[in-house]
Amino acid sequence: MAGRKGRRWLLTPLPLQGHINPMLELAQILYSEGFSITIIHTTFNSPHPSNYPHFTFSCIQHGVSQTQSSDLLNFLLQLNVKCVEPFKDCVTKLLRSDEAAVEPVACLISDAMCYFTQAVADNLHLPRIVLRTAAISSYVAFLAYPLFRQRGYIPTQDCILEEEVKELAPLRVKDLPLIKTEEPEKYYELLRNFLKETKASLGVIWNSFEGLESPALRKLSKEFSIPMFPIGPFHKHLSSSSSSSSLISQDQSCIAWLDTHPPNSVVYVSFGSLAAITETEFVELAWGLANSRHPFLWVVRPGLIKGSEWVEALPSGFLENLEGRGAIVKWAPQQEVLAHSAVGAFWTHCGWNSTLESICEGVPMICMPIFTDQKVNARYVSHVWRVGLQLEKRVEREEIQRIITTLMDVNGEAKEIRDRALKLKEEAELCLRQGGSSRSSLQALVTYILSFDSFTSQPSSLYIPFRFARKAIDDW
Ligand code: UDX
Repeated sequence: MAGRKGRRWLLTPLPLQGHINPMLELAQILYSEGFSITIIHTTFNSPHPSNYPHFTFSCIQHGVSQTQSSDLLNFLLQLNVKCVEPFKDCVTKLLRSDEAAVEPVACLISDAMCYFTQAVADNLHLPRIVLRTAAISSYVAFLAYPLFRQRGYIPTQDCILEEEVKELAPLRVKDLPLIKTEEPEKYYELLRNFLKETKASLGVIWNSFEGLESPALRKLSKEFSIPMFPIGPFHKHLSSSSSSSSLISQDQSCIAWLDTHPPNSVVYVSFGSLAAITETEFVELAWGLANSRHPFLWVVRPGLIKGSEWVEALPSGFLENLEGRGAIVKWAPQQEVLAHSAVGAFWTHCGWNSTLESICEGVPMICMPIFTDQKVNARYVSHVWRVGLQLEKRVEREEIQRIITTLMDVNGEAKEIRDRALKLKEEAELCLRQGGSSRSSLQALVTYILSFDSFTSQPSSLYIPFRFARKAIDDW
């Protein structure tokens, strides 16, 4: 733990599990670097302050209801409108508080998707840095959205799905971060704002590492005049797992179940916190897993299956007939599960956290992306890093059985994939060692933020004038 720096950072996560986890991990990393932390969160999906006694928390009321998160596009657009005033009030109060007089606020870090925070930060002359919780490679694909628009990719015609998009090779049209919507203009508006306000920030923090995404990083560095800080994998900076930021309680019993299995024997299946599949797909997956004869641990989150409460669509006696070969839980301690020696493959939707957590443990993946950045991640897993296979066909039991059998094989293609996955795991470990790329990038971030101070005439001022922060960038 570094000495206290006498500076406070304000952190604002997007209120969704896949964004809260990395933001709270980042908060812990910065706390270890000697900074004090205030988390500004919404009433919806709020983190548990009692799990972070060393942070302070400030809650804003925004009036965006929980049910709207099922319609992600409108949820994000609404959030970016309705949060402006309460967020501004909250930050103003924090900047004027007695605590801020003693310990000045150095910077605001907001999730890139909370793009409304840039105007508020400008208005309050507060430096804003962005955390982008997804991959750098998928960001490069989002940047190409004018191309999607020009070519009319939404709604996507079936006949062009397999076509390669030369500008973004090796992505095909079906790997682009597109969504199914009747209102493509709304989606483009969201992307335009999110990309524009990221560019307007003073820097971007990535939960990724140079060795994994250097081509994408180089590309972005050419387009952006702000510094990039790839300091991931965040969770590997920390001694404990991210269970404390989990919104759903994690069923620890699955670890004891894994303990009873030999190394690399179990297929772990999870689709993260948002994705949904149909009842038919669920049943096909169940039979594919059962017929593969490999033991499986499956996270079936309530809400995963459209139109079902939980697992009622399973044929009666399904699990009992497997005689212990299958276990289903509502939510697992995923980082611990992936680190368990019994896990031999991860059937995943390729959310960025899941992808990175799998890479860090050297676990080969079977990719079944559902929406947006997941499709880019899946293509990179199978065709760039080549540490997994992608389910290209429909979700049908024969294909599921075939792909599991292929990846769980001890020889051939599966062995090559496993070897590459172990090599990538080593790279993820090396980047966090002394002199490693992510460790150096973290030090650069700390120096960068502290340098804002040296441009102020009064080091204990409540906030740093924006032009000084810009000067720090020019000198950078
Ligand atoms: C969302 C988007 O869907 C994803 O595309 C984007 O990259 C991030 O935001 P989500 O779908 O939840 O995320 O997936 P993912 O990014 O994989 O994050 C899920 C998190 O929940 C991971 O940190 C994982 O460890 C955790 N988790 C998942 C659990 O703790 N238990 C589980 O059972 C499943």
